[in-house]
Amino acid sequence: MTAATTIEAPSRRDFLYLATGAVAAVGVAAVAWPFIDQMNPDASTLAMASIEVDIGAIPEGQIVTVKWRGGPVFIRHRTKKEIEDAANVELSDLRDPQTDAQRVKKPEWLIIVGVCTHLGCVPLGHEGKYEGWLCPCHGSVYDTSGRIRQGPAPLNLAVPEYTFLSDTKVKIG
Ligand code: FES
Repeated sequence: MTAATTIEAPSRRDFLYLATGAVAAVGVAAVAWPFIDQMNPDASTLAMASIEVDIGAIPEGQIVTVKWRGGPVFIRHRTKKEIEDAANVELSDLRDPQTDAQRVKKPEWLIIVGVCTHLGCVPLGHEGKYEGWLCPCHGSVYDTSGRIRQGPAPLNLAVPEYTFLSDTKVKIG
């Protein structure tokens, strides 16, 4: 045995171990990374405790996703129809009863955490029966207020703490 062989063997094992770890991390990240970030807040996550977003450039009908505390937040500039659809729902039809007015500060802006309340996937906007969001993982359907309407998710998409600093700027967190 030479010294070189002795060093090489453990290095190779380390490499394999790290490679396996990286694959596993990617697998988990695809499904549940927002929860993982919340459980292990590092310095960069804490530094993003609040963010300011310029919403002036978001056209009506568009959804923008921003990263906040390690997870996605959806900012949706709702159309008149989307606002009406969200308002014209009987509370008795809802699994997690909340009026649209309880979930927004300004009707045209819906701001919600983009993490499915089933197992943490990121739902797709403008999809599903109610054209709100559809979670691709197990088919949970949310309406244009981000309220759960069909599928396995138990709760509405969460509303984060936020403040309008002006007509075009919002602070989340
Ligand atoms: Fe969204 Fe299961 S994680 S439906």
